[in-house]
Amino acid sequence: VQNQPVKGMRDFYPEQMNRRSWLFSKFRETARRFNFIEYDACVLESEELYVRKAGDEITHQLYNFEDKSGRKLALRPELTPSLARMILARHSEITFPIRWFSIAQCFRYEKMQKGRKREHYQWNMDLVGEPSIAAELELLSALVDFFASVGLTEKDITIRFSNRNLLSEYLSKLGLQEGSLPAVSVIVDKLDKVGPQTVKSMLVEVGCDSSTADRVIAFIKAADLDEVRELIGYEPTASTDIRALLDGAKLLGIDGFLRFTPELVRGLSYYTGTVFEAFEASGEGRAVCGGGRYDRLIETFGGPSIPMVGFGFGDVVIMLALAERNLVPAQSPQSKVLVASYSNNESPEAIRIARSLRASDIQVELDLSCPKLRKLLTRGDRQGFRYVILAAPDEIRQGQILVKDLAHGSEQRIPLHTASEHIVNKMMRGT
Ligand code: HAM
Repeated sequence: VQNQPVKGMRDFYPEQMNRRSWLFSKFRETARRFNFIEYDACVLESEELYVRKAGDEITHQLYNFEDKSGRKLALRPELTPSLARMILARHSEITFPIRWFSIAQCFRYEKMQKGRKREHYQWNMDLVGEPSIAAELELLSALVDFFASVGLTEKDITIRFSNRNLLSEYLSKLGLQEGSLPAVSVIVDKLDKVGPQTVKSMLVEVGCDSSTADRVIAFIKAADLDEVRELIGYEPTASTDIRALLDGAKLLGIDGFLRFTPELVRGLSYYTGTVFEAFEASGEGRAVCGGGRYDRLIETFGGPSIPMVGFGFGDVVIMLALAERNLVPAQSPQSKVLVASYSNNESPEAIRIARSLRASDIQVELDLSCPKLRKLLTRGDRQGFRYVILAAPDEIRQGQILVKDLAHGSEQRIPLHTASEHIVNKMMRGT
């Protein structure tokens, strides 16, 4: 049997699990500060949840299969469609707006590269039922709150944002059909990856003539809102939202992180307004997180129109960025205790001490295998125990117990009846 995980998947040994738990706790703390409540769905979904006409790359990366009764299923590549499905099922009972978050494992059959795996955990924060830019501002603030909580500043991270309605207005000016936005967005999102020639031929495939395709590509490359306005020929409606977002961001003190970038469109077809993605400010590496407004996803599932905004924040890229900056805390020294007995005769004392320490909420491992002292100490040391307590016959006879402090390399004989109190006191003082 192979001792490695399936290609693109990760095992989490305890030291990695420790880092992951630390990251998740930071996600959760931010979510709590912004009053988002946690939910989850199953990793397994119906494949139809991800069927999209616009040709989103994500739908070609599905881990999909038929189950034994012929149902077409897929491991979720993202959480958003599951959220929309869940909201659709309960929308008449829900008092909107709501703020929900989740940390969901997602699977995509991706080309493996730095920062991209075939499985990742994604912190999702979504605000449902709020049509105004206030929703975007809360989510962007939450992102900045998280970055600050792990020690990242605007020198480290830039959040690029744009609004798909700019492109949509330009497309209608060019006389393209309403409804072409999703497919065009998905295509122009590939500009960096595949280059203008390929993007052009893909645009032609979905019905643009050659000069329209050139114009769309030039539009995407616009430097700022002035240039966008010039190309459209009038002040685009979306610029009101963009300015409101920038003004709000100033008030919230998060504007230093934000950069309006018309080139940003995002590769998922369901976005209908604001889109954003955070990157390392150096411009290197893949997106740290991404999101946007998607006001019509529930409609495409046959439900009412319910405005939604959210982001997905993966665990892979952020951990690389944090590790590079030494911002992942080392495993905190543990104050755990190893309790053992010299022989079965002393087990009752060892057990009594272990129970009393556990009752005081101390992390205790009880070893009743009667290990040799040297073996016990070596293990205690290698496995990061702070204290080793041994119930041995000589000491017990004198009403005492042996306590080894591995951090200081010292040993003490302590009266049996005060032993656990002694340890608890020491731990409380952090000595
Ligand atoms: P996405 O941009 O496809 O958006 O993914 C969001 C984030 O998930 C990425 O920025 C990245 O951090 C992480 N990610 C995605 N794929 C991988 C991968 N193969 N390996 C490692 N990390 C990855 C969405 O999924 C949207 N559903 C987000 C959203 C929520 N929009 C609104 N609400």
